[in-house]
Amino acid sequence: MSVSPATANFEQLIATREARVGIVGLGYAGLPLAIAFADAGFDVTGVDISPDRVAAVNERRSYLVDVPEERYDVLGSLRATADFSAVGELDALTICVPTPLSKSRAPDLRYIVAAIESLAEHVRPGQLIVLQSTTYPGTTEDVVLPVLESRGLQVGEDVFLGYAPERVDPGNKTWHLRNTPKIVAGVTPRCLAHTEMLYSTVVDVIVPVSSTTVAETVKLHENTFRAVNIALANELALMCDRLGISAWDVINAAATKPFAFLPHYPGPGLGGDCIPVVPHFLSWRLREYGYSSRLIEAAHEVNAAMPVHVIQKVADALNDHGRAIKHSKILLLGVAYKADVHDTRESPSLEVMRQLLQRSGDVTFCDPWVPEISIGDEIHHSVEWSAEAAREADCIVMLTPHCQFFEAPHWKQARLSVDTRNVFPVGPDVWPI
Ligand SMILES: NC(=O)c1ccc[n+]([C@@H]2O[C@H](COP(=O)([O-])OP(=O)(O)OC[C@H]3O[C@@H](n4cnc5c(N)ncnc54)[C@H](O)[C@@H]3O)[C@@H](O)[C@H]2O)c1
Repeated sequence: MSVSPATANFEQLIATREARVGIVGLGYAGLPLAIAFADAGFDVTGVDISPDRVAAVNERRSYLVDVPEERYDVLGSLRATADFSAVGELDALTICVPTPLSKSRAPDLRYIVAAIESLAEHVRPGQLIVLQSTTYPGTTEDVVLPVLESRGLQVGEDVFLGYAPERVDPGNKTWHLRNTPKIVAGVTPRCLAHTEMLYSTVVDVIVPVSSTTVAETVKLHENTFRAVNIALANELALMCDRLGISAWDVINAAATKPFAFLPHYPGPGLGGDCIPVVPHFLSWRLREYGYSSRLIEAAHEVNAAMPVHVIQKVADALNDHGRAIKHSKILLLGVAYKADVHDTRESPSLEVMRQLLQRSGDVTFCDPWVPEISIGDEIHHSVEWSAEAAREADCIVMLTPHCQFFEAPHWKQARLSVDTRNVFPVGPDVWPI
């Protein structure tokens, strides 16, 4: 491929850090990326429709676990705006807007469509646009590309379009943006070259793949791998429960095998905005091809049933001590979807709490990362995890796996505990009520 003037110019802008970079959507995925580009020496503009997030970035206020206030100190060049006319001044843009599922588990692309339509009003020749939101195979070429071309721009000649899936793992202390290899793809070879140039300034290892559809599917496969393996661990827990043994004993022993085994652990269900959601992008898309993805459906069934299993365990544990859920004081430990994050999206703990409240349990929760949650119309505030709270509860239910915070000796005060890390023989310290 000969180097076109547009590519040479883009390369120059990237190499000299004169390129102005834009991030559309300043959430868990977009804000760390915006900061990484600012750290790499670029002038960065975040574009977000949320006035709160725009103000927080401009006032250097933290709103995400991975971006504490100190991270902002070193940044002079990051600014945020809700005004899409800023797009016209930028050279490279990444779109990181949400991609939820509808109630019937169909992809809801309204944020991507809104973002690309707003962006297209100000797009100009020479720009690189990279979609980073997780989505179904074909979105970049079938949904994003036509909007750009409707502006009379030829993708690959006038403007450049790529896809680069997100791999952020909020709260992970080892793997972060720079040291996690980045999958990139372009609609044309030039689009790929521009996308690689942009991301190689913030990520050590770039992994180019053959098409945007491959890149979109890589992300879906990674999350499906997790969902299916977690379902396997959850099903093992259900089977071990019947055998009267601990699934954790089994998994930890199996994990000593140095090859061909990757441990996954059981819990109260699946949470976060990726693993419970993303596999359905794949199965939804494949239905259009007359293919029914059996493993994704089976994994969904097992994982989605786990909150009900937890509630059954709580009911059984209370029943064994002559109590009902109704009017029992039940303290839930951990409502975020995993340890050490604020994020309660899709958290199975919320479903556990909702169902216990529905059965007239006197339910409270403690989560050091989540000050309040709403269940239905009611707001519930986190209580302190203390010896007194443990003593007062009729039953304590440990919901967040791997959360060190709850390893305090207060457990010894518990009269009855249901520990979902051991799904679900009652925890080590059980006192009759
Ligand atoms: N959160 C994660 O850990 C994670 C991990 C991997 C992939 N992803 C994917 O990254 C994408 C973004 O997820 P997130 O967690 O950062 O979402 P988020 O909800 O934290 O942030 C999205 C941001 O986009 C903004 N936004 C919505 N519509 C917009 C529009 N039309 N124009 C401009 N801004 C708009 C919202 O105001 C919000 O600030 C999703 O596709 C998600 O699946 C997220």
